Amino acid sequence: MKIAIGNDHGAVEMKNHVVGWLNDHGYEVVNFGTDEPVSTDYPIYAERVAKAVVSGACDRGILICGTGIGISISANKIHGVRCALCSEPVSAALCRQHNDANIVAMGARTIGPVMAEEIVRTFLTTEFEGGRHARRVDEIMALDRGETLQ
Ligand code: RB5
Repeated sequence: MKIAIGNDHGAVEMKNHVVGWLNDHGYEVVNFGTDEPVSTDYPIYAERVAKAVVSGACDRGILICGTGIGISISANKIHGVRCALCSEPVSAALCRQHNDANIVAMGARTIGPVMAEEIVRTFLTTEFEGGRHARRVDEIMALDRGETLQ
């Protein structure tokens, strides 16, 4: 599985930790993030990762900023993205099972490296359940296309 990862200046250390974990576990990683702790703007990296995932160039995405909030909001502006901000593995499992999330976002200032590993491991190994959840994901994507549901 090929993983796109992106981060701003607040998450360089956390990104490096996650990339190390991904490499140790056999994932191919494309680094779209900054490697410098110099102030920059998180939407830039959200866009790069989102487009890599939506285009099919990468299978899943991981985004990290200080809180994960700005970078997840940004990613969800790109058509085709379902980005879930997670701070623990239960949400990481459910965003795959119920929402078919294709990008996970995390906060480098809100969680530690071991929690990040568990979130990433869970996100990358949990399948979408389909069924009634597929209808809801279809509705999310209808909203994404600007359609009205009811
Ligand atoms: C950058 O200072 C910070 O605002 C950013 O990393 C993130 O937390 C925004 O949501």
